[in-house]
Amino acid sequence: MTVDDRERWSTRVGLVLAMAGNAVGLGNFLRFPVQATQNGGGTFMIPYFISFLLLGIPLMWIEWGIGRLGGAHGHSSLPGMFDVLTDRKTRWAKYLGVLGLFIPLVIFIYYTFIVSWMLALSFFSLTGDYFGLGEVEAMRGYLGSYQNVFDGSHTAATPTILFFLITLLFVVWVVGRGISGGIERLALIGMPVLFVFALVLVVRVLTLPAAAGSPAEGLNFIWSPHWGALADARVWLAAAGQMFFTLSVGVGSVHCYASYLRRDDDITLTGLSTAATNEFVEVVLGGTIAIPAAVVFFGVAGATAIANGGSYDLGIVAMSIVFQGLPGSEVLGRLAAFLWFFLLFVAGITSSVALASPTIAFLQREMGFTRKKAVGVLAGLSLPLGLFHVVFYRRGVLGDWDYWAGTFGLVIFATIEIVLFAWVFGIDRGWTELHRGADLRIPRFYRVVIQWITPLFLLTLLVWWGITQALPTLLMQNLADPSQAPFLWLSRLLLASVLVACLVGIRWAWVRRQSQTTGD
Ligand code: ALA
Repeated sequence: MTVDDRERWSTRVGLVLAMAGNAVGLGNFLRFPVQATQNGGGTFMIPYFISFLLLGIPLMWIEWGIGRLGGAHGHSSLPGMFDVLTDRKTRWAKYLGVLGLFIPLVIFIYYTFIVSWMLALSFFSLTGDYFGLGEVEAMRGYLGSYQNVFDGSHTAATPTILFFLITLLFVVWVVGRGISGGIERLALIGMPVLFVFALVLVVRVLTLPAAAGSPAEGLNFIWSPHWGALADARVWLAAAGQMFFTLSVGVGSVHCYASYLRRDDDITLTGLSTAATNEFVEVVLGGTIAIPAAVVFFGVAGATAIANGGSYDLGIVAMSIVFQGLPGSEVLGRLAAFLWFFLLFVAGITSSVALASPTIAFLQREMGFTRKKAVGVLAGLSLPLGLFHVVFYRRGVLGDWDYWAGTFGLVIFATIEIVLFAWVFGIDRGWTELHRGADLRIPRFYRVVIQWITPLFLLTLLVWWGITQALPTLLMQNLADPSQAPFLWLSRLLLASVLVACLVGIRWAWVRRQSQTTGD
């Protein structure tokens, strides 16, 4: 059956910007500088680029391929796409596709909460709320009091909840307007804004007068490789993890967006362009703002110490202090801070929208819901689960979800999809499928990469990661605060419930499909 009644991207520019918006997010501007700094700057960049060539690019291509193929058969989410990859001959493939529903939904919920902090910080930059907190500990305290509401005082919860609700409602509103009317339009407005804001900030950072360090020292730090550290497994794991997160591969959102392509639309050149855009934004723009700015104010050692303090300390804590100390009037500092946090908000919101898309697509296309009903279900699920993170953030539940869904889950999903594509669907058919309507011939070397190198790379990561990190994390060994344990078990119970709900949804959808086929 070939269904062609679906929504479409209206322009190629819109598609590229939406796909770039999917990839470009908090990962580029917040996560990347921290990962690079924690893992030795230039040292990190070598496994990072190797991961881009051997994981990022091939996975990006096959996800575009699986998505476009699935779309041509009436599917915009992974259960149906995996079913198509196995020629609908298996019972199990669609259930493996549960990862393509579960992972983006779970990430969507906690990611949107983090994105809401950026909206709040944009607002508080304009009002100058935190100006005057020029020390690292003071700024950490400020951020902590915003994140860790319900810490006993119950007084600071209102803005945290309010900004979360505004952000969630905005995303739900955008996805409710559909592919071209909502998502594409947001990308057409948001991405140029992001580029302009980022360029202004890059220029500002590079022209900062030297203090504890200079902008050049910051750039030098990220661009001088130390070959010796390459033997350190942790650097490789960090680089591969960053690659997954930043490109949004192993998630399900790339497939969903690609399903709205036409059967013969190019995916090789377009896929590569969006991956390259993401890398440009991450390495060139993302790498030229937070790291050099922090080095100017704190020196290389100081910036590294701040980055080691936590995931948000470089992009939020250090940057807030940088903006307070900019030469010139405070108003200019507040404006620069607004540019930074609003840039983060825009980057995050386009990724949030992409993360929400597989759920909406599944509910509409597989379960037959109207768009309004699908959007209602998404809101009904993500509101209570999001509030769970608001209330229990200080118990480490967000980090736990990020680990299982946003880190380890991506590698499991990517391993399954590449095996299905290269070995079950078959590399010959897969290669032909990728080149349908192609504007670029993929170098033949990548056939071997897709068939052998990437799957082996992924399997190695899976085993390595499983033994060194996943198992101890599962068993809660080395928990910094043992009082968190009951909350983490609760958070895992919720994760398991979401997984089961997705599986039940798949079962329901296929029973419905079968009864429709026999009824026809
Ligand atoms: N790819 C998105 C990011 O980098 C999720 O934030």
